[in-house]
Amino acid sequence: MQQYKVGIIGGTGMVGQRFVSLMEGHPWFRLTVIAASPRSAGKTYADAVGTRWAMETPMPEFAKSIVVKDAEADMEEIARSVDFVFCAVEMPKDALRALEEGYARLECPVVSNNSAHRWTPDVPMVVPEINPEHLEIIPAQRKRLGTRRGFIAVKSNCSIQGYVPPLTPLKDQYGLSKVLVCTYQAISGAGKTFETWPEMIDNIIPYIGGEEEKSEREPMKLWGSVAGDHIENAARPSITAQCLRVPCTNGHMAAVFASFDKKPGKDEILEIWKNFKGRPQELELPSAPKQFLHYFTEADRPQTRLDRMTENGMAVCVGRLREDAQYDYKFVCLSHNTLRGAAGGAVLLAELLCAEGYITAQ
Ligand SMILES: NC(=O)c1ccc[n+]([C@@H]2O[C@H](COP(=O)([O-])OP(=O)(O)OC[C@H]3O[C@@H](n4cnc5c(N)ncnc54)[C@H](OP(=O)(O)O)[C@@H]3O)[C@@H](O)[C@H]2O)c1
Repeated sequence: MQQYKVGIIGGTGMVGQRFVSLMEGHPWFRLTVIAASPRSAGKTYADAVGTRWAMETPMPEFAKSIVVKDAEADMEEIARSVDFVFCAVEMPKDALRALEEGYARLECPVVSNNSAHRWTPDVPMVVPEINPEHLEIIPAQRKRLGTRRGFIAVKSNCSIQGYVPPLTPLKDQYGLSKVLVCTYQAISGAGKTFETWPEMIDNIIPYIGGEEEKSEREPMKLWGSVAGDHIENAARPSITAQCLRVPCTNGHMAAVFASFDKKPGKDEILEIWKNFKGRPQELELPSAPKQFLHYFTEADRPQTRLDRMTENGMAVCVGRLREDAQYDYKFVCLSHNTLRGAAGGAVLLAELLCAEGYITAQ
């Protein structure tokens, strides 16, 4: 397989640090550029991150001496020197939209973690196992941007990464009609640790700005279809969500209730989950989990601390499937929010884009 030169925009942040860690030993991707705000530009990566390093593993040696660039001021130079960029930046939405489009217009594909372009009609929002066919919209986006190589592809919000996968293989077969979900989200989802957010110790905050809207709306785009020059959203199911911040470092848990037009049997659901595979498994992409959905039979699993790293944090863990008195079924699920839900999901998307020929090495 070819080697690709990769840049990380926002490499000093929580998700950016995950990207840097995931580039260590990656068989296809070689990290050559890290960019961030003017605060970090000109410093070595080690100095720019300083005490903010929040990963469980040490900062990779190869990254320490990379001199951080300015994501906006050095855009042309960065776009010229890499095959594509990952983007995970905390900025106002308009500025972020312009930043990502700037790279795409300079013929540099952007694989983004940010929400700024999730609702741009010709930008594919992709979980590789769920809607890889949405990449077919890229030629229409390139036409609008007037580019040959450049485009933007995004991943969805971390909150939906646990419950959309187990619902996907049941949705069409049984007519998924109604979903109620409560998420219990880790503090790294806000780019924080207990050191930087001590108020979260021994505390739950019952509000995460914008998260409930994302949790209810984004599945509809993932479950939608390509219609000419845009993605047409799915019309159902109806989803209602409550999102809570809980005192956990990593791993978003969700409690899910679901109803169907035609109620499946419990054994049928378990069999479907066991056999659920997508393009990443078919193509054997380097970051793909072998088993996408892991079902736990123990009554007290999955647990964040024990199970979030299942298959390097790229699998979705499910448990406690049972019938419900008001909905057809209820279950719980867990996914690692900065791995599968952020940087890992974006790396898998980039692998898919390379394998399918949307990103090429220059
Ligand atoms: N954390 C998660 O689990 C998660 C999951 C999914 C999606 N996301 C999304 O990913 C993005 C990054 O989140 P995060 O948690 O990593 O945030 P973070 O830890 O606050 O990091 C923010 C990054 O943005 C950079 N930045 C800030 N202002 C900038 C500017 N004017 N120009 C260029 N770079 C600038 C920062 O650089 P400096 O270090 O130089 O300030 C830093 O690298 C956000 O859009 C977030 O919504 C996060």
